[in-house]
Amino acid sequence: MSRLIYLNDDYLPLEQAHVSVLDRGFLFGDGVYEVIPAYGGMPFRLKEHLQRLENSLSAIRMEPPLDRHQWLAIFTRLLDQLGDADQQLYLQVTRGAYDKRLHAMPEQVTPTVLVMSNPLSQRDPELVQRGLSVITLEDIRWQRCDIKAITLLANILSQQQAREQGAEEAILVRDGLATEGTASNLFMVKEGLIITPPKSNHLLPGITRDLVLELAMEAGLPCAEATIRVEELEQADEIWITSSTKEVMPVTRLDDRPVANGRPGPMWEKMDALYAACKKRLRQRNQASEQCYE
Ligand SMILES: Cc1ncc(COP(=O)(O)O)c(C=O)c1O
Repeated sequence: MSRLIYLNDDYLPLEQAHVSVLDRGFLFGDGVYEVIPAYGGMPFRLKEHLQRLENSLSAIRMEPPLDRHQWLAIFTRLLDQLGDADQQLYLQVTRGAYDKRLHAMPEQVTPTVLVMSNPLSQRDPELVQRGLSVITLEDIRWQRCDIKAITLLANILSQQQAREQGAEEAILVRDGLATEGTASNLFMVKEGLIITPPKSNHLLPGITRDLVLELAMEAGLPCAEATIRVEELEQADEIWITSSTKEVMPVTRLDDRPVANGRPGPMWEKMDALYAACKKRLRQRNQASEQCYE
């Protein structure tokens, strides 16, 4: 039997899970989402992901449809289907379906809640070794990039442009400042200092971004939150991008020119090892799942 997904209080095989064509997620992109990696059957940085979900919901004026224990119960049931395999949970909440297609928000909201879990594909070791090629592009998104909204058309167009130019990701630039990737946060290293742009409405507060800063501080690696001008990025010793599925990826080409010597740098190697150790600790934890909230 095929794996089950969660949809509005039900656990169903994917083929039997249906959403109305009047759903505001479908009609307007009126919803938010999360992607949560799970290692050894345990959701990674769960508390942080659920906090960001609550922030996104609050920003679009929705109540959380479930509490943290209810989310965890769903995640556990879905993850159990693939046991200890590395997985990625996808969670989406939309404002639901109503009789008429009206922009105005309904007074009584019945949200649509979807959660599914899929195998998490491993990073391509060759790509990790070679490093990514990225291009810079003008950020064409809106002013609330801090909300993890399902409305991703601008990200998709920018990502596609990067692909068509032979790059793996686009670094988005607003007012001369490099903010983040189309689906990742941005770091650079200059003279031993790890720098990432400060949180603002122009970028998503990445869970991996925060973890990288936390790991750097624990390990005594100098780090700072500071704006990054495109010209500074061009002079970086190292560039990284981060996300829950990509983890910490080295960038070795920027706009078709090598970053420093064109190879993943020593600071990236340190951070990648710290990140791997952090994942390993989670895998080894065989305590109750509630521990994830710590
Ligand atoms: C625009 C954007 N920025 C940053 C990230 C990285 O966030 P996280 O580390 O929480 O996966 C993502 C993830 O998909 C994203 O879409």
